[in-house]
Amino acid sequence: MSNDSTSKTLIVATLLCVICSIVVSSTAVQLKPMQVRNKKLDIKKNLLVTAGLVDDSAEEKQIVEAFKAVETKVVDLETGAYADIDPESYDARKAAKNPKLNYKIPAEKDLANIKSRAKYGKVYLIKDGETVKNFVFPVHGKGLWSTMYGFLVLENDLNTVKGLGFYEHGETPGLGGEVDNPNWKANWNGKKVFNDAMKPVIKVVKGIAEEDAKYKIDGLSGATITSNGVTGLVRYWLSENAFGSFIKKYKAGSI
Ligand SMILES: Cc1cc2nc3c(=O)[nH]c(=O)nc-3n(C[C@H](O)[C@H](O)[C@H](O)COP(=O)(O)O)c2cc1C
Repeated sequence: MSNDSTSKTLIVATLLCVICSIVVSSTAVQLKPMQVRNKKLDIKKNLLVTAGLVDDSAEEKQIVEAFKAVETKVVDLETGAYADIDPESYDARKAAKNPKLNYKIPAEKDLANIKSRAKYGKVYLIKDGETVKNFVFPVHGKGLWSTMYGFLVLENDLNTVKGLGFYEHGETPGLGGEVDNPNWKANWNGKKVFNDAMKPVIKVVKGIAEEDAKYKIDGLSGATITSNGVTGLVRYWLSENAFGSFIKKYKAGSI
């Protein structure tokens, strides 16, 4: 067969495509466990950064070391009590999609605009010996373009904010994406989430919040929809329909 023949050209092109696709797909399969591991590590890092335990430049060793101070619990969101579920293997994000493990949120209570959530949620206790210093609550809810996933860290009075950070969202850089801006995130530190009636009233306002406004956070400029999304998701996850019953129980000393 001559090198210029049509059939030889087709055979070479086909072989090349097959070989390349095998190389690409087997590399993707091989790298998958590493990607999953790195994603989990990145989520842990975001939790620790939000809680002020490590900074953004932390490497794997520091993350693993700092995470030793974190005790993970699984909470029944209806009763607020701890559930007998292994936190290592429990994935609330997967459970939220499973009709057997999820709960459909009534529209009037769905402040985070997520329609359903897992029946059980993880709570992270940051400990100093036996004392709980901080509580970390995973939160998520709709912004303008995306569901934003992050962590809300409270002091041990279960009312004062230590930090809020997102590890995943698809909001526009420079607009809604400013949820990642350290200057904006610093706004949250020291703010209160509940009023005297234990209702979550914290709010991202439009414009600049007055300096002594303990329930108000500066708005994201040009991104009122994302700002409102953040208000909604923080309020939802602190409400009685989510971690509120756990918070009440813990405050009452019955956990
Ligand atoms: C390309 C584009 C991207 C936008 N991205 C966002 C966003 O991520 N978050 C958001 O709230 N608004 C975003 N907006 C603006 C919204 O459409 C809307 O105008 C804005 O939320 C209103 O906020 P303001 O009243 O503070 O201007 C975007 C607009 C455009 C044209």
